[in-house]
Amino acid sequence: MSAPIDLAAFPRDFTWGTATSAYQIEGAVTADGRGPSIWDTFSHTPGKVDNGDHGDEACDHYHRWPEDIALMKRLGADTYRLSVAWPRVFPGGDGPVNDAGLDFYDRLVDGLLDAGITPSVTVYHWDLPQALQDRGGWAERDTAEHLAAYASAVAGRLGDRVTQWATLNEPLCSAWIGHLEGRMAPGVSDLTTAVRASYHLLLAHGLATQAIRAAAPGAQIGLVTNHSTVAAASTRSEDIAAAVRMDGHSNRWWLDPVYGRGFPADMRELYGVELPERPGDLDTIAAPLDWHGLNYYFPTTVTDDPGGPAPYAREIRLPDVPRTGLDWQIDADGLEALLMRLTDDYGVGRIYVTENGSAFPDSRSPDGAVHDPERTRYLEQHVAACARAVRKGAPLAGYYAWSLLDNFEWAYGYEPRFGLVHVDYPTQTRTIKSSGHRYAEIIRAHRQEHA
Ligand code: FCB
Repeated sequence: MSAPIDLAAFPRDFTWGTATSAYQIEGAVTADGRGPSIWDTFSHTPGKVDNGDHGDEACDHYHRWPEDIALMKRLGADTYRLSVAWPRVFPGGDGPVNDAGLDFYDRLVDGLLDAGITPSVTVYHWDLPQALQDRGGWAERDTAEHLAAYASAVAGRLGDRVTQWATLNEPLCSAWIGHLEGRMAPGVSDLTTAVRASYHLLLAHGLATQAIRAAAPGAQIGLVTNHSTVAAASTRSEDIAAAVRMDGHSNRWWLDPVYGRGFPADMRELYGVELPERPGDLDTIAAPLDWHGLNYYFPTTVTDDPGGPAPYAREIRLPDVPRTGLDWQIDADGLEALLMRLTDDYGVGRIYVTENGSAFPDSRSPDGAVHDPERTRYLEQHVAACARAVRKGAPLAGYYAWSLLDNFEWAYGYEPRFGLVHVDYPTQTRTIKSSGHRYAEIIRAHRQEHA
């Protein structure tokens, strides 16, 4: 039995979609002049990605996109969140535009529009051109300027048909996981580099916002950030303080400057790294936005960790709670809470859930179907949480399930499967899972509410 969802809560024009990102699905890494990105380098460095997996072929979406659009249509989706690969557009990071790379997105956007699906384009989903990394990457201010030039080229080419734009995806992961924890490209573990990277990423967001507005008047621009609720592991004052620090690290550091409050003082002090600030930067970073994208997967619970890395708070694993195949705790209430925080604390006027989903080890059964009751339940619980937030006043305008397809899950490689559509990699056969069919049913049922 499916759990009931209060679909009447969602406004008539609420949009339903799926999300992907370029490096995770496209493959074709040398096609039409594409240059290498930090993820090509990282994934081809032994020991960095599980099973030695890489995105060379991925889902071969670069060639199979018409089939993938047909799948979106079968789901009944209104919208699709995709990212553009910077190294297709500027193979060397800056310099001459590679028109052949932009042509791919031109075809894709036209294909989506022909199918009645609205594209939502993310400019940067982690695939920095390796050439820019070789010049210092996100630790350098120039990288932010280059991102703005790249955003301008993409918006200039697609902006006559694309109105929905996101500058960055999850700058937290680029900065903290890529430059502090070293578990993602470029694989650096250094606090000073990480803090500088975080600053330049937010600056890049602000500069790209200006660039897109100039290149595509009428563009609706947002930033996509990922957040977790943070609970203290106990009532000890040390744990409560650790939770405040973790909240600063994963939530306030990213939201406060974007919403005009500057960088949180407690975290500046904690990091003890001088920010590469110039006059005017804070205004650039806080450029007014049309919407905010929230990516939500799991909640966190932390304990004080004075000897550990910044922010000196360690995540603990709660026993006896539901978890996904990646061991991520499942807690739909966290999504509701974060939607209310964006609404009430930050005054966001329009929100999309730009990613939400779960990985489980799916396989095709002898009848050819892929049954994934756990993912189906995760989907239902989280859509229900969105409905509760809407009832409480959250200006939620759409939901994007992560992901359309099983794909290259970064440092975890291909083993975790997040798709509503199963991909058999050796044959590239796509099969809509039962969660995908359930999503289609939810979309239809919402439309009927307003018929
Ligand atoms: C997010 C990323 C996305 C995907 C999901 C599972 O952090 O934005 O690319 O990997 O996690």
